[in-house]
Amino acid sequence: MPAICCNTTVLEHRQVATGIQLMTVAWPSQHPAPKAGQFFMLRCWAANESPVLSRPISVHAYDRTTATVQFLYEVRGEGTKKLAALTEGETLRLVGPTGNGFDLEDAKGKKVALVGGGIGTAPLYQLAVELNQAGTTPDYYAGFRERAYELDKLSSVCGKVQLATDSGLEGVKGLVTQLLNPSDYDLVLCCGPEPMMRAVAKLCAEQGVRCVVSLERKMACGIGACLGCTCHTSTGGRCVCKEGPVFDAQEVFGQ
Ligand code: FES
Repeated sequence: MPAICCNTTVLEHRQVATGIQLMTVAWPSQHPAPKAGQFFMLRCWAANESPVLSRPISVHAYDRTTATVQFLYEVRGEGTKKLAALTEGETLRLVGPTGNGFDLEDAKGKKVALVGGGIGTAPLYQLAVELNQAGTTPDYYAGFRERAYELDKLSSVCGKVQLATDSGLEGVKGLVTQLLNPSDYDLVLCCGPEPMMRAVAKLCAEQGVRCVVSLERKMACGIGACLGCTCHTSTGGRCVCKEGPVFDAQEVFGQ
């Protein structure tokens, strides 16, 4: 279903960790249903105001019953600072849902591991919910700098949950790649900082396990019109916003 552009209302908005916001907005059920791995372009400032570009933010959760979408995002720059200042009842503009999202057919009947790093864990909740609905309960491996956030929520839809932090304040002190043994799985679905995803993809390739990654790029239009988000793949340049952000790791990291 094509992306739509519309205004929506903030229903709830709170900080869940230092620099991490969880925003719930209205998304009427007659609008296209977003799926895991898809994202929206968000904007709450005028076209002639800075920053020029809207902010691409992945879907953290979609609930058709309550007609809501949740965004879990990190406050990194001018655009996300403006988004973070929004309060209940205020309006923002969304374009989406856009992007290919994760292919659930691919995961059916398989042993699946979700691997996330930092704010890259944001789309994994919706992914775990959809996998559960499709009859697959994934295991979850996550890495954070200081402390984990929104972990209870993910635990409720995952089997084994393992955590690593740089700080050692929670879970194992170190990297999430120390926890993962890809040969325990048929499929590894990953989202996080690119060095982490490359490391996970390498581990998977060494053990002959398929790995799928969700890439992050700066985006202008978010709908495949400007070619500003191209990434190199084994089959040539691909548009991350429209042909991604979800790709086979072999295709983009060439393991
Ligand atoms: Fe314009 Fe991807 S952001 S084509």
